[in-house]
Amino acid sequence: MHSNLKIEENVSLSGLTTFRIGGEARYFLRAQTEKQVISGLEFAHVNELEVFILGGGSNVLISDSGFSGLVLQVDLKGILFREGDGEAINVTVGAGEDWDEFVGICVEKKLAGIECLSGIPGLVGGTPIQNVGAYGQEVSETLVSVKVFDRHQNKTKTLSKAECGFGYRKSIFNTTEKNRYIVLEVDYSLKKNGAPKIVYSDLKSKFEGRVPSLRETREVVCTIRASKGMLVRQGGLDAQSAGSFFKNPIVRKSKLAELETILLGEGVKGIPNYFVEPDLVKIPAAWLIEQAGFYKGFKKGNAGLSTKHTLAITNRGNATAKEIIDLKADIQNEIMDRFGIDLIPEPNFIGFDNF
Ligand code: EPU
Repeated sequence: MHSNLKIEENVSLSGLTTFRIGGEARYFLRAQTEKQVISGLEFAHVNELEVFILGGGSNVLISDSGFSGLVLQVDLKGILFREGDGEAINVTVGAGEDWDEFVGICVEKKLAGIECLSGIPGLVGGTPIQNVGAYGQEVSETLVSVKVFDRHQNKTKTLSKAECGFGYRKSIFNTTEKNRYIVLEVDYSLKKNGAPKIVYSDLKSKFEGRVPSLRETREVVCTIRASKGMLVRQGGLDAQSAGSFFKNPIVRKSKLAELETILLGEGVKGIPNYFVEPDLVKIPAAWLIEQAGFYKGFKKGNAGLSTKHTLAITNRGNATAKEIIDLKADIQNEIMDRFGIDLIPEPNFIGFDNF
C-alpha cells in the first residue's frame, strides 16, 4: 500500500534544526505531494505512531533521545500570483517553500506587506503556526487563508484568517487545536507598489522620516537581524539557536509599577515597555534576563546566550538538549524569584516527556 512512500528509518534530526541538536526520528518522511502527506499520516495511524511536522527546524528543540514516532516534513512547493481587487495581488504558496526566499521574490516584484519579515528562517507552512512577526509586522496582517489537512475530520479544508485565531505569537495551531491541522498551503494578499511598513523604532531611526523602497527595507531588516545574531544564514555559533527562546511577557500596569519599585531602587533608570492594551504592557524578556544577571555570551556547559542578544539560547558547540533545558530552567527560576514573572518559551519541544 505504501510502496511508493519513501519512509526512512532512524534519521538523525540535529542537522535539520537550526539549534543543531537532537537525536533520531524513528521514522521520517519528506512528503512532496498532498497525497504523500495523507499516506504518511495513514502509515502513522496504522502503526500507532505519534506524528511531528517538521518545517525549517528553526523553532524547535529536539530531545537527545530523538522522536519515537514519524517525523513528517511537508515539502510542498509552488508560488502562484493572481491579480486581486485594485492594487491587491493574491499569492498562494506551498507550505514547503523557504520563507525568506519567498519574501525576497515578493520584494523584487514590488509587493508590500511582508518586507519586515525578511531574514526569518524556516518554511512558509510554519508562519501561521506562531503568527510570525518582527519589526512591526506579523503574517496575520496579510494572510487570507490557510489550506490544511484536518486530522480529526480526515479531510483537506481551508481555514479563513478569522478561524486561525491569531494573536501575539499565537494561533489555534499552537493553542486550542495543537496537532490537529497540517498546513499545506498559505494564501496572502499583498499590495502592488505599496509602501513598506516603517513603524519599528530601529527602522524609523534608520530612515529618518524618508519612505524607503521595499528592497532597502529588506536590506536594513536583514542588517539589523544580523547585528542581533538573528540571521541564521550568517552562520556561526550565535545563529545555532531557535531565535527568541522566550516570549516577551505581557503584564498588567500594576505589575510594571511593582517592578519599578524594585528596580529603580537598585539604580535602574526605567523599564522598557510597549503598549498592548490600556492596562497591559509587554516587557522585553531580553532586558529582564539581563537584569537578572545573565549577560550576552553567558555560558553554562556547552549552552549559552548569544553574544549579541540575551533572548537567544545558543548551542556553543556540541551542546545537548539537556544542557539547553538546564540553562532555560536557570533563567526561568531566576526571573520568577526576582520578578515573579513566568517566562514562557517560544520554541516547540519535541521528544521530551515533560513538555
Ligand atoms: N534587549 C536587551 N538585551 C539584549 C537585547 C535586547 O536588554 O541583548 C532589550 C532592549 O531594551 C531592546 C528590547 O530588549 O530594546 C527589544 O529587543 P529587540 O528589538 O531585539 O526585540 P525582542 O523583543 O527581543 C522581538 C521578537 C523577535 C523579533 C524582534 C524584532 C519576540 C519573542 N521576539 O524580539 O522575534 O525579530 O522583536 O521585531 O517577540 C523570534 O521570534 O524568534 C524573533 C527573533
